[in-house]
Amino acid sequence: MATTKVKAPEQTNNVQESALNELFIDELKDIYWAEKHLSKALPKMAKAATSDELRSAIENHQSETERQIIRLEDAFASIGQKAVAVKCEAMAGLIKEGEEIVAETEKGSITRDAGIISAAQKIEHYEIASYGTLRTLASVLGYDHAAELLDSTLQEEKTCDGLLTQIAEAGINQASKAEKA
Ligand SMILES: [Fe+2]
Ligand SMILES: [Fe+2]
Repeated sequence: MATTKVKAPEQTNNVQESALNELFIDELKDIYWAEKHLSKALPKMAKAATSDELRSAIENHQSETERQIIRLEDAFASIGQKAVAVKCEAMAGLIKEGEEIVAETEKGSITRDAGIISAAQKIEHYEIASYGTLRTLASVLGYDHAAELLDSTLQEEKTCDGLLTQIAEAGINQASKAEKA
């Protein structure tokens, strides 16, 4: 059997020079863009919501998102990096999907709320996956302060996701079942 020779990457003892460090910074730039973009989209989502409960949940998460952006800037600073945002195609797509749901559902309907919750939970799950990875990478790289900051945000994203499930289960799903298409 023929063996393919793969050249092993050069080794380094300096964390700052490691490929993992580069990956971590790239992922940080990605979520920084995602949060900034989201902070502009959330007010529109809140405005489109039918129930007061969903609107206020989104508004609360909007304020949380503003704080998360600052936390990311602190994380960049803690590792001696400038905060730079690089377009996150995934978040751009998820937000676009949310806008489409709003456009396709009737204003004032509970079905629209069910759709907004669906879009918002996809966003939260993307954030949970991203912050989970980022927190782990920060720990592995020895960036303890950044790891703590990223963990705080991870917990907020999980809480928000849980709250959205609660709102959906408390009545929106049932009520929207009765609405005519
Ligand atoms: Fe967030
Ligand atoms: Fe979030």
